[in-house]
Amino acid sequence: MARIAYVNGRYRPHADAAVPVEDRGYQFADGAYEVCEVRGGRLVDERRHMQRLRRSLGELRIAEPMSFAALSVVMHETVRRNRVVDGIVYVQVTRGVAARDFAFPPPQCARSVVVTARSLNRSSIDAIAAAGVAVVTLPENRWPRVDIKSVSLLPNVLAKQTAREHGAREAWFVDAEGFVTEGTSSNAWIVTADAMVVTRPADSLILRGITRTVLVDVLKAQGFELVERAFTREEAYGAREAFITSASQILTPVVRIDGRLVADGQPGPIARALRRGFHRHAEFS
Ligand code: PDD
Repeated sequence: MARIAYVNGRYRPHADAAVPVEDRGYQFADGAYEVCEVRGGRLVDERRHMQRLRRSLGELRIAEPMSFAALSVVMHETVRRNRVVDGIVYVQVTRGVAARDFAFPPPQCARSVVVTARSLNRSSIDAIAAAGVAVVTLPENRWPRVDIKSVSLLPNVLAKQTAREHGAREAWFVDAEGFVTEGTSSNAWIVTADAMVVTRPADSLILRGITRTVLVDVLKAQGFELVERAFTREEAYGAREAFITSASQILTPVVRIDGRLVADGQPGPIARALRRGFHRHAEFS
């Protein structure tokens, strides 16, 4: 089936969908984005993803391109036209198209809005989670405003590629003090020997993941204790469990870090229980 993309007010065949070469997203990575899970044809946690998009745009001083009600209609319509049952919907807003100049274009310059949707193979994602994944650690080299979900992702791209070249699915960035910040496209978590679930506080050095936010509710409901504090790479090596969270993968157990097994090298019971319980606490629209 031919894929369809929404670009600036039009639904176009995906293969022909394009923005002009002077789009500031293309020239400067001057834009923000969101990725929402689609499950059973419905959007998961759209409200929270849209709140975060609004915040990212505000921090980047990009005016909202359309009402969020209209954007919601476009997201649902893009999912429908692509017949996505399980997958993701992607939204990108850039500062628009203008002659290349670092400073902002005049305010009347229209922002660019692109929405795409893609099916994902749910059973292969579930199989990956059932087996657990490997991560490698790499020095943090991103700007100190990664709380903004900007399309400027070059360090993440390079780190993910390094992970893949080492047979790992994800890379964890480690700051100058030896503390893990987050993954290239996921938040990082460990479970300590005394069953505390630990993740870094959502300051400007990590993205406040929507999956992370929902998981806090899952933890409460399942009676687990959450501690929001930074953890070191060494602590992660010795953890009882480790896992990552993101909209497209939900919660995926980590069974190997830098080539060392986490505990017995199998996904842990806490991670599995949290993954199973996740969608009871998510919002569907
Ligand atoms: N990535 N940290 C980073 C750097 C991310 O890129 C992501 C999401 C997350 C998790 O956020 P959430 O739970 O809201 O998906 C954390 C998306 C999925 C992506 O870029 O494809």
